[in-house]
Amino acid sequence: MTHIFANWKMYLNFSESMILANQLATESYDTEKIHLGIFPSSLAFTEVEKLYRDTEVAVGAQNVAWTPKGAYTGAVSAHMFRNAGATYALVGHSERRHVFGETNEDVKKKFDACLDAGLIPILCIGETKEDLEAGKREYRLKKQLMSVLEGVSKDATFFVAYEPVWAIGTGEACDHLQAAEIHDSIKKELNTYTVQPIPVLYGGSVNHENVVFYLPHQSIDGFLIGSASADRDHLISLLNAVVAA
Ligand code: 13P
Repeated sequence: MTHIFANWKMYLNFSESMILANQLATESYDTEKIHLGIFPSSLAFTEVEKLYRDTEVAVGAQNVAWTPKGAYTGAVSAHMFRNAGATYALVGHSERRHVFGETNEDVKKKFDACLDAGLIPILCIGETKEDLEAGKREYRLKKQLMSVLEGVSKDATFFVAYEPVWAIGTGEACDHLQAAEIHDSIKKELNTYTVQPIPVLYGGSVNHENVVFYLPHQSIDGFLIGSASADRDHLISLLNAVVAA
């Protein structure tokens, strides 16, 4: 089973989100092979969730606030997303870290809030180009895992997404052999924090052409896809490529 998680970021307005969600709802793909998850904007969330309720398609939040309720203008909490039908939530996405200045401490609060609310958090981690050039990839990934996972119950259910910052939206995907090796080391590291098998997704410039190279690797459980997931033809080609592989 390959997880294909579509992070629509802020690419689609409400009408565009509903057009794409409706188009996807009419497509048939092999649900034995693919577990599809859609992460629409907060604006489109409830309508997309309604469309996919009681189907195989999961719907998740792109971002959550950690306090369940209160005077937090503009925020939507993990608890509110859970109440509205979300299964998953992204936490620590590189754009939240680098554009909105989220720290590892913020990411931990969001992760813990998701578990508290009954959402499955997808902890996004990844090194920057500077980290890579300074030989600090391993250090960065371990630190991002440790700062969130220390103290978390060993039987907590969550995912990790390895998304190298330099590969996001650049067309410069991480080589599949390298990605598989990093996933292996992430999984080894995860053994210190959990007794559960934790799916680890790869993200960063995945498209219908390169996805097939990652598929044979056992340590890659699926993909978190940005721009290629916000376009019907690209996403359908990608699903078809995964099914055909
Ligand atoms: P791209 O697929 O556009 O590189 O984005 C990856 C990503 O950030 C998914 O969360």
